Amino acid sequence: MIKILFAASEAHPLVKTGGLGDVAGSLPAALRRLHQDVRLILPAYRSILERLPDAAVTAQFEVPGAPDTVRLRQATLADDGVPVYLVDVPALFDRPGGPYSDPQGREWYDNALRFATYCRAVVQVATNHAGLDWAPDVVHCNDWQSGLVPPLLMREPRRPATVFTIHNLAYQGVFTWDTFQYLRLPADLWSMHALEFYGGFSFIKGGLVFSDRLTTVSPTYAREICTPEFGAGLDGVLRSRADRLEGILNGVDYRVWDPARDTLIPHRYTARAMQGKQQNKVALQKRMDLAMGPRTPLFGHVGRMVEQKGIDLIIDALPALMEEDLQIVILGSGDPRLERELQDAAARWVGRLGVHIGYDEALAHLVEAGSDAFLMPSRFEPCGLNQLYSLRYGTIPIVRRTGGLADTVVDADAETLRSGAATGFVFDEAAPAPLVAAVARAAEHYRNPPVWRDLIGNAMRQDFSWRRSAQAYLALYRRL
Ligand code: ADP
Ligand code: GLC
Repeated sequence: MIKILFAASEAHPLVKTGGLGDVAGSLPAALRRLHQDVRLILPAYRSILERLPDAAVTAQFEVPGAPDTVRLRQATLADDGVPVYLVDVPALFDRPGGPYSDPQGREWYDNALRFATYCRAVVQVATNHAGLDWAPDVVHCNDWQSGLVPPLLMREPRRPATVFTIHNLAYQGVFTWDTFQYLRLPADLWSMHALEFYGGFSFIKGGLVFSDRLTTVSPTYAREICTPEFGAGLDGVLRSRADRLEGILNGVDYRVWDPARDTLIPHRYTARAMQGKQQNKVALQKRMDLAMGPRTPLFGHVGRMVEQKGIDLIIDALPALMEEDLQIVILGSGDPRLERELQDAAARWVGRLGVHIGYDEALAHLVEAGSDAFLMPSRFEPCGLNQLYSLRYGTIPIVRRTGGLADTVVDADAETLRSGAATGFVFDEAAPAPLVAAVARAAEHYRNPPVWRDLIGNAMRQDFSWRRSAQAYLALYRRL
């Protein structure tokens, strides 16, 4: 049995802003099902403490630079039995708003201090200095918020092995020299071979340079980030560590995302009994004020409204898309300009384009269940989970060939349709016209019911459950 401390800044169902939350909420549970001793460690955000009012303090200690004593609270993650440690420093985490930004959507002014303190608390636990009488064999860090853990652990005489998973290289946690000093980080970490990054310093670089093993969430993204186009300034660092880097595809928690048992949708269904899907479509059309049309193809999209997701490509494609006999629903929040453009568009195409700005988990499930096809024209996509959910919901994904999208969706052409491999529609160039062409291709297949039924069957048969991915992580931990 391996002892694993899993460090992440969000985990479903306690706190989630995107796919990292899904992964941190389900990978530890999958590892536990493989009989490993895995424990999760998260910042004690106000929203978590409100959900877990009984999380008792099990340890307390000081860390450099923190405004207060760190109290470590302990709880359990949902019904999986995964122990969770909560790093409680009220001055840093007990506030309204999200994990990374204030209620107005601006990044917290003290994020460097918040996550440096979190990292230092992780190091205390990892080195068995927190008084828990538990010493992990491996610390598994995720994204920039835990990026200082590997460099700080390197300085410890006895330390566990470290794994760092890149969920998104575009978010790096870059701050200034003044902040570096303010955090009282060891001076030798200010070096281009360590944290220094174009005159500032970068949390994620700590993970990339100092961890024993690096992973990212799909094989294609693992190759892409070693190139200048996708490397976000860090491709050189990654190339120098390419022998330590591998891509392990994310899994899906089918207890949460499966139309046969989804408690957030009004009508459940399976590949053999699909009536529920049609009823969910009606429910979605009602909910989004769309015209009722059982035979009009409905295209859904759920995602953070940022450039990464190609939501602007959808916006630019709308005039052409709205020429066709189809409907579109969009759920998301993010860049206020994109939000506004979408709302204006919804006012222009009433009854055909439904837009909901906000974060709404139940609606995300209904979009998956009630749409016929799912739009994911991402410019880059480390893994992507919504296309995997779409496959399971028989909602045919339309994706750009990048990262995890390229690894998980098989384009429908004559041959893949014949062999039963086809699961979606894939296009190459990040521009509105190729997206429109892919949507038109999907709409044409939709109008051919036997072919569309086959596609749905192929999609729903795919198995992206966590077991395989969890085994790949376990094999990696064992190699350490
Ligand atoms: P990313 O992590 O880059 O945001 P993923 O596809 O990996 O992309 O995961 C996104 C997750 O966040 C999915 O579970 C998706 O349903 C959810 N999500 C994104 N935006 C919203 C929203 N506005 N409301 C509800 N869920 C959302
Ligand atoms: C990131 C990526 C997304 C991935 C998720 C979970 O947020 O943008 O592609 O699925 O992390 O790994």
